[in-house]
Amino acid sequence: MRNSPVRLWLAFLPVGLAFSLAGCSGEQSALDPAGQEASAVARLFWVMLSAAALIWAVMMGLALFASRGRERPWTERGAMRLIVIGGAVIPTLLLAALLAFGLGLMPALRSPGDGLRVAVRGEQFWWRIDYELPDGSRLVTANELRLPVGQRVEFLLTAQDVIHSFWIPALGGKMDMIPGATNRIVLEPQRLGRFRGVCAEFCGPSHALMAFTVEVMEPAAFEAWLAAEQAPAAAPEGQGAALFLARGCGACHTVRGTEADGVIGPDLTHLATRHSIGAGIMENDPAAIDRFIREVQEIKPGARMPGFSMLPPEETALIARWLGSLK
Ligand code: CUA
Repeated sequence: MRNSPVRLWLAFLPVGLAFSLAGCSGEQSALDPAGQEASAVARLFWVMLSAAALIWAVMMGLALFASRGRERPWTERGAMRLIVIGGAVIPTLLLAALLAFGLGLMPALRSPGDGLRVAVRGEQFWWRIDYELPDGSRLVTANELRLPVGQRVEFLLTAQDVIHSFWIPALGGKMDMIPGATNRIVLEPQRLGRFRGVCAEFCGPSHALMAFTVEVMEPAAFEAWLAAEQAPAAAPEGQGAALFLARGCGACHTVRGTEADGVIGPDLTHLATRHSIGAGIMENDPAAIDRFIREVQEIKPGARMPGFSMLPPEETALIARWLGSLK
């Protein structure tokens, strides 16, 4: 009966593994890589995990062996040899091999991009995204990245207020965004699809509500998206547009093609084409936009935007409907 705790443990092992591995796929998993750099990180993880598991198994085996082992004491010489080989030589060789493997992955992470550069600035609590296109033109948007598959894209990362951290687990490792400094990371998406990026550095009360969508597209579709995004807003003027301007929204937000040219908050020019609002936290539909305008401080505590619940509900509904039509 001495073995029963071990048997119990072994019986539950598959259940535990199944639960843990269920979290390993999906749009925000470093273990389900969709990019060159994420593949390297995942490879490093599996190699380190396997080595650690192997070392653990060997050590447990040795401990069991020793606990049931022989009655005779070791000779002085035998004990010394065991300590030198088992305590110094083997760990040094193993750790050196793992270190060399890890360092060998690093040069690829610092190699140059293929021409497309995206400046991303962390703000409390959203992402200002500024594409620097190979022809020298620029495109400012917010909270959603679109990237062409198979191209190495260079990200220039900084922050407006406090330290944030830029992380798209499916595409690569994270990088701090620091006010006054510009950090660089190069990512190469290798699989089409929609992924999720997050802020990985505590930056205030809504840190956990600071996410963004990443859409990896075919190069032709990406070019078409860029062209559409560079055009001014395509929504008709109307009551919603007039209220947006009259209530001062344009002091903080830009909607290209209208008088709204504020740069404090996110650019809203093509808001309706984004997959989510509020930096990756809500469905993009007029009802959600309306709720966000009225209750932003409840939805996103500490955000720089005040809630506009003092406006009549019909007004914010009209503004939200107009914003929801900005294709
Ligand atoms: Cu931004 Cu955490």
